[in-house]
Amino acid sequence: SIPVQNVQELAFKNPEDIPLRYIRPEVESDDIVLDGSLQIPVIDMSNLDIGQVGYEEELAKLHRACKEWGFFQLINHGASEAIEHMKVVTEEFFKLPLEEKMACAQVPNNIEGYGQAFVVSEDQKLDWGDMLFILPLPASRRNLSFWPQNPTSFKSTLEEYSSKLQSISMTLLGLMAENLGVNPEELTSRFEDCIQGIRMNYYPPCVHADKVMGLAPHSDSVGLTLLIHVNEVQGLQIRKNHKWIMSNGEYSSIEHRAMVNVEKERLSIAAFHSPNIKAKIGPLPDFTEKTGAKYKTISIEDYVKLAVSNKLDGKSLLDQYLRIKH
Ligand code: SIN
Ligand code: FE2
Repeated sequence: SIPVQNVQELAFKNPEDIPLRYIRPEVESDDIVLDGSLQIPVIDMSNLDIGQVGYEEELAKLHRACKEWGFFQLINHGASEAIEHMKVVTEEFFKLPLEEKMACAQVPNNIEGYGQAFVVSEDQKLDWGDMLFILPLPASRRNLSFWPQNPTSFKSTLEEYSSKLQSISMTLLGLMAENLGVNPEELTSRFEDCIQGIRMNYYPPCVHADKVMGLAPHSDSVGLTLLIHVNEVQGLQIRKNHKWIMSNGEYSSIEHRAMVNVEKERLSIAAFHSPNIKAKIGPLPDFTEKTGAKYKTISIEDYVKLAVSNKLDGKSLLDQYLRIKH
């Protein structure tokens, strides 16, 4: 991979002069449609305890959200306190001087650490943002050299956040399995000892906010992503699209991108949940029996290799490499 400049530093030192590699001609011409009739689904997790009044209704809402959107807002999830604490330490980390942040810097052949999204060619356009990526789970594989020591409460806060979000993911995956008519155990067992990656994003302000991108369009290739906004600055945009293989194409992973603000920095935190290392990625057995497999089954390792080498384009990844043509 090719080293890239620190964007926070670049934006701070020379806010008026944006290097060409960040300017994307396609953004300006892209017209963003704010369709008032399209309401992002909101799922109330407090209704999703078995026996709860409104359970069936909420479960049906979740199914529609997954099938029609591949995206929803989650409320009453019980993690508010952990989220608030995580926001504080994340903001504190990115406020540190560069030298201090560099204590957690990326190293070759490793996806963890503080730095920028991986770049595969010299002429590739760059994202207007820095990140800190950590793999808190499985806990046995934690590499604490990438965990900030400053703020001092970072470690315990991330641990708490990681376990809260992992448990929410498991609950949601179980409910999704139920909605899909597959044995929930078949799905959740693959996420026991799951791989969890937490990506903290920092997007500096940019005078050409309408011409740069914090994060280029992509669909997440993991099982389930839980995303939060750290501050009040908006920037997540979604496009309706895409597929999720374990559900044999029933549920889709929505295409999205992150935009930046002219005046204010923007921060977000994405928590990705992937099946455990031993699990295979492919349609669940209940699907194959009912409708026949629409996608090939491969190891997690091969899947990750495909996803990484295909740079942010999960769509062609599935269709080009894994789709079974009948
Ligand atoms: C992401 O797609 O990982 C982050 C998007 C965001 O910053 O909102
Ligand atoms: Fe994403």
